[in-house]
Amino acid sequence: MFEGIEVQEQALLAPYTTLHIGGPAQYLAFPKNQDELLSLLQEANAHHLPIYLLGGGSNLLVNDDGVQGLVIYLAGDFAQVEISDSKDHIWVGTAFSFPKLTRLCLELGWEIALGWSGVPGLVGGALKMNAGTRLGEIGEVVCQVEAVTPAGKLILSHDQMGFAYRHTAFPKDAILCRAELYYPQANPQKKAELLAKASQLAKTRKATQPKQRSAGSMFKNPPGDYAGRLIEACGLKGTQIGGACISQVHANFIVNQGQATAKEMLALSEFAQKRVYDQFGIELEYEVRRWGF
Ligand code: EPU
Repeated sequence: MFEGIEVQEQALLAPYTTLHIGGPAQYLAFPKNQDELLSLLQEANAHHLPIYLLGGGSNLLVNDDGVQGLVIYLAGDFAQVEISDSKDHIWVGTAFSFPKLTRLCLELGWEIALGWSGVPGLVGGALKMNAGTRLGEIGEVVCQVEAVTPAGKLILSHDQMGFAYRHTAFPKDAILCRAELYYPQANPQKKAELLAKASQLAKTRKATQPKQRSAGSMFKNPPGDYAGRLIEACGLKGTQIGGACISQVHANFIVNQGQATAKEMLALSEFAQKRVYDQFGIELEYEVRRWGF
């Protein structure tokens, strides 16, 4: 199976996640281009193997028992980037580092990138989650995305991707490969100013987000409110289950204090979700993806 493609069996996933939690993948594959990816997807389908896509692992909770199926980690071509001479177009692979892309955008004078500066992970995850803040979301500059499904390669236009707050509408079985970004207001002369603003934002974030291992915001903000505010209002800051703890710094972050298991992380998040529902009647929706539960 998977001939000619780099594949590991029973590979531990914990090192690939920011939480440093998670058991083994039955198969962990490293396709280098869209053709290898397509053949992997087709073989996995033929063998009825569930497919999981591993990105930067910054928004992911993997169960302690790991996952059965094929986990894909994009490499090679998927980690490339190109810039147009006019500086207003970027073509970027989805396995390229999102913080590196952000830095590049700021250097090219893309002011909108301040909106997602500080977001970790890879470009693919940032696209899927429409990473961003009130200052701007990545979806605003995406013109098209190349993707692969078991049925073949496709190109999605901006309108087909349904960008909204922490939401997109990519076809369920599509693996994003490369994005074309366009920002007509690019102004390289703003480089110094934008880098200074980004470093100021990073300082604020350092003060308002915990330093311990986490998967970022556990829940999406519900319309008109904040998950962090609601969880804090339930008096849950500092609550622990085993090694998992609701951060004292930001209540929407559940941190791994060292030896937390995936089960403890999940139990604590479900506890917070239930308490918020009981007290406010608001059902918090997960932002973090959960595998193998
Ligand atoms: N708040 C509390 N208690 C807390 C945390 C927050 O009362 O423990 C209140 C704050 O005082 C503030 C409000 O909730 O009034 C919002 O908090 P914050 O400014 O920290 O922003 P957020 O909405 O919690 C969002 C993103 C973060 C992103 C920041 C930066 C979501 C779910 N989270 O957080 O994204 O870094 O804005 O602007 O949209 C992520 O998605 O993983 C993530 C970290």
